[in-house]
Amino acid sequence: MSSASYELVLRNGRLLQLTDAPLSEAQPVDIAIESGQIVAMAPQIAAIGQSELDLKGKLVSPPFVESHVHLDSALTAGQPRWNQSGTLFEGIEIWRERKQDLSLEDVKERAIQTLKQQAMQGVLYVRSHADVSEANLVALKALLEVREQVKDWITLQVVAFPQDGIYGSSKNEALIEEALKLGVDGIGGIPHYELTREDGVKSVHRIFELAQQYDRLIDIHCDEIDDDNSRFLEVVIACAIRSELGSRVSASHTTAFGSYNNAYAYKLLGFLRRTQINFIVNPLINITLQGRTDTYPKRRGLTRVKELWQQGMNLSLGHDCVQDCWYSLGTGNMLDVASMLIHAAQMTGLDEIDACYNMVTWNGAKTLNLANQYGVEVGKPANLIVLDAANRFDAIRRRPPVSYVVSRGRLLASTETPVTQWNAP
Ligand code: FE2
Repeated sequence: MSSASYELVLRNGRLLQLTDAPLSEAQPVDIAIESGQIVAMAPQIAAIGQSELDLKGKLVSPPFVESHVHLDSALTAGQPRWNQSGTLFEGIEIWRERKQDLSLEDVKERAIQTLKQQAMQGVLYVRSHADVSEANLVALKALLEVREQVKDWITLQVVAFPQDGIYGSSKNEALIEEALKLGVDGIGGIPHYELTREDGVKSVHRIFELAQQYDRLIDIHCDEIDDDNSRFLEVVIACAIRSELGSRVSASHTTAFGSYNNAYAYKLLGFLRRTQINFIVNPLINITLQGRTDTYPKRRGLTRVKELWQQGMNLSLGHDCVQDCWYSLGTGNMLDVASMLIHAAQMTGLDEIDACYNMVTWNGAKTLNLANQYGVEVGKPANLIVLDAANRFDAIRRRPPVSYVVSRGRLLASTETPVTQWNAP
């Protein structure tokens, strides 16, 4: 009997790949894992593992990436009251009340519970915003502690997010700088909610200055409104071109882009060719938040997804909220997000459906600037998921549970595929 060579060997999987590569998606592949790394991949690995898993031809995919969520408000729906209007602005009012009661333990407990819920469903990379327009920075400090606490099984990025605007009070600008000193991964903003247009423009410039000063990523809640005069994306584009920060910059939501007149929208699309900024789309929440002041026809609350994708921009997806004052639903399942995008943005062509799967995987990794640590390849960290699905289309159409989640080379979670017992009459 031969001795064990690897800690873990996954056998007989079918590898989902971004581009054509030596290992065909249709051929079975074995994956050997040692010390948290993928060390070998081949149609058949002869050496045995201390542990082995037979994947029975299931799909092996890199993990899902949650590009945009607010873990500080997660699991608070109904506290202290329900959002009856369903608008972003009533949500902000409710959160302003709820955040008076935040404690480190409260935020940490809900954040970790949400992260577990996400990880069980194959999400191993998460970018969370933390509200930094509250005097004690409780949400931020809690999420920084959580980032450390969970690092052995999930990667969490924390973005300093001034929910009430950088210039919404005399204290907020100092608070966001304090957040940078405390070690956030990125800096955010909300120019369309600043008190004036001028404040909004100033806030975007300040964000870019601070990002350069502290060497951090940028992720701005940008034009999340139906107002076709909300035009802060152009300011983000201008700052991105001049700063050359490119792919370190993300514009989240940009729902007003869907309301701009075509002459203006196509001018912006032209400018975007000179940047490499990422767009983060949150279709579950924005299809419910936006269009609330419309009679009929009602807008869908989405940016120009198809046009941006056709132009080769990097788009990735987020839940935005999981059971809070802005969105009381949500499960953390990224296939739900991809499915909603396909419907709401009419991304129904076969290549478009595949692209929506890529938005919750590879594109998300690009948005988060994960560089070389993402992907199922020899030499990379052994983070992967196993789906009982034939391909991307099938995965999104049926949204089966993730059979196995392997994180840092260990089996983090496994879920049985439900079996229905049909009793014929
Ligand atoms: Fe958000």
